[in-house]
Amino acid sequence: MKILVTGGLGFIGSHTCVSLLEENYEVVVVDKLSNSDISVIDKIKKITNKNLKFYQADVCNEEELDKIFSNEKIDAVIHFAAYKAVGESVEKPILYYENNLISTIKLCKIMKKHHCNKLVYSSSATVYGSPKELPIKEDFPLSTTNPYGTTKLMTERILKDICLADPTFSVIILRYFNPIGAHESALLGEDPNGIPNNLMPYIMKVAVKKLDSLNIFGNDYDTKDGTGVRDYIHVVDLANGHLKALDKVNNTEGINYYNLGTGKGYSVLEVVKAFEKVNNVIIPYTIVARRKGDIAACYADPTKAKKELNWEAVKTLEEMCKDSYNFVKNQNK
Ligand code: UD1
Repeated sequence: MKILVTGGLGFIGSHTCVSLLEENYEVVVVDKLSNSDISVIDKIKKITNKNLKFYQADVCNEEELDKIFSNEKIDAVIHFAAYKAVGESVEKPILYYENNLISTIKLCKIMKKHHCNKLVYSSSATVYGSPKELPIKEDFPLSTTNPYGTTKLMTERILKDICLADPTFSVIILRYFNPIGAHESALLGEDPNGIPNNLMPYIMKVAVKKLDSLNIFGNDYDTKDGTGVRDYIHVVDLANGHLKALDKVNNTEGINYYNLGTGKGYSVLEVVKAFEKVNNVIIPYTIVARRKGDIAACYADPTKAKKELNWEAVKTLEEMCKDSYNFVKNQNK
């Protein structure tokens, strides 16, 4: 089977390409390199000893997409390509709505033109807003607090309407919790430019002394130690979830939604302590004010994915911390 992976050189996309190649799928990547690096292709090839086809193109560009679909006989699409920085989305909502919505609309239009009707979509637990109950189930009410999150929710709604109008079109929506970790080869991982917004990339920069100290955003939440609780999931587990979703999307019609999380919540302090212990490093930190828009706790009920996709996360927080550190050390050699 030939799979088109949009945004295939990004953090989750690159790990998913590795999993696909390891399972002998043919992989075609389209990526505009806005937040990824061309060198990732060689790293994927090195890890898997297999080849992939690459197109540098913008998924919003209908003509370029059309050419790709004409050149390749694509059986299914995994769609990662999107802008994902929450803060930036608040400052530049037009950029986010234009990029994240138009890309999916153009993609679906060209897929339909070429009779490709299987899509796995990269959504986020951000669509649950501030949940009233935990753990979070797929049928919980949906709401968002920033333009990035709204693009994810709006895209889910667009895909639902496409499936309603065309019963042969099949979509799996994957709602990720907090992906961290890196490939065990230390070749692939998350390495944002500048000062990271997210917890693990920040800890990684402190660990290699690129930043002095971590700011912990609040220790007065109603959680086990007062710091925010999240469901951190190893990116390789997450990547493998996409292969299970592909099996499912090939055998179903309509739209289906799955949480990809571990079901376990860890506090910021627990993550810091685990990172220090596993890697034998000190992560200096300061408690500062809460970050605007943050919620106290968020973790998945992953039962539906286990039952219907036959998938569950297996990697521990310790493995996530170890692989993240090995990756950042390798980057900074
Ligand atoms: C964030 C996004 C979410 C996105 C997800 C992708 C926000 C508000 N939400 O989730 O939409 O889908 O990333 O991974 O940005 N923390 C610190 N210090 C830091 C950074 C984070 O204490 O320097 C704390 C946060 O307050 C939170 C936890 O660490 O309790 C996790 O934060 P983060 O990694 O940014 O993820 P989320 O906010 O859960």
